[in-house]
Amino acid sequence: MKLIYSGKTKDVYENDDHYVLKFKDDVTGENGVFDPGANSVGLTMEGAGKAGLRLTVFFFEKLKEAGIPTHYIDADIEQAEMSVRPASVFGEGLEVICRYRAVGSFLRRYGKYAKEGQPLDAFVEVTLKDDERQDPPISADALEMLGILDHEEYSRLKELTQNISGVVRDELAKKDIELYDIKLEFGRLDDGTIVLIDEISGGNMRAYQNDDYMEPLELEQMMLSSK
Ligand SMILES: Nc1ncnc2c1ncn2[C@@H]1O[C@H](COP(=O)(O)OP(=O)(O)OP(=O)(O)O)[C@@H](O)[C@H]1O
Ligand SMILES: [Mg+2]
Repeated sequence: MKLIYSGKTKDVYENDDHYVLKFKDDVTGENGVFDPGANSVGLTMEGAGKAGLRLTVFFFEKLKEAGIPTHYIDADIEQAEMSVRPASVFGEGLEVICRYRAVGSFLRRYGKYAKEGQPLDAFVEVTLKDDERQDPPISADALEMLGILDHEEYSRLKELTQNISGVVRDELAKKDIELYDIKLEFGRLDDGTIVLIDEISGGNMRAYQNDDYMEPLELEQMMLSSK
């Protein structure tokens, strides 16, 4: 396999006609504290890679059942590897966030008008993947004007984001866990279909139980336990 990209939390390999994502034990955050919105590796936790992959597989299988298109092919948990269909990203990559409660960067930006933890109705925001500029939020008009995504594609992205986030939220709710927000990535396959790519692990979302924030590993254990 040929290494084509080494990211913060995963390495990407090319293997014949597919990609292999290798999940590392690195987690985003700052000074040892986890933050799904951070642009640096904040801590390394043994087993984080495999746990993140397990939860990712759990959700991608649920999405398959729901008929939602993703890049997922299969996974080898022991090797912490997931095989996926290669996709091309929009521009140099977007992150799509779906929010059910006001926390994180939403609160930092709109704190003048929003209260912490205020309910939000599956509110969708897009940000540019641009570490140097702290992943700025971008509007649908700006996405079209800059040639990144047209309005029709934006609507599709928003619809997919709300559907996918709804699936995740419902699965968490079965374990009495509340989803506050989640970050997704999308790409286009060769035939132009827009699909969910990357991962859905504890590192991509904020989840709470009885008003207590759950660390990614704790969330992954809870979600995958048979109880
Ligand atoms: N199916 C796919 N096709 C192409 N690229 C993909 C696919 N799935 C995930 N990726 C990309 O692989 C990389 C995974 O690595 P990782 O998540 O560690 O990146 P990162 O450090 O977060 O960097 P980035 O800021 O690019 O996300 C991401 O850039 C992601 O966009
Ligand atoms: Mg990433």
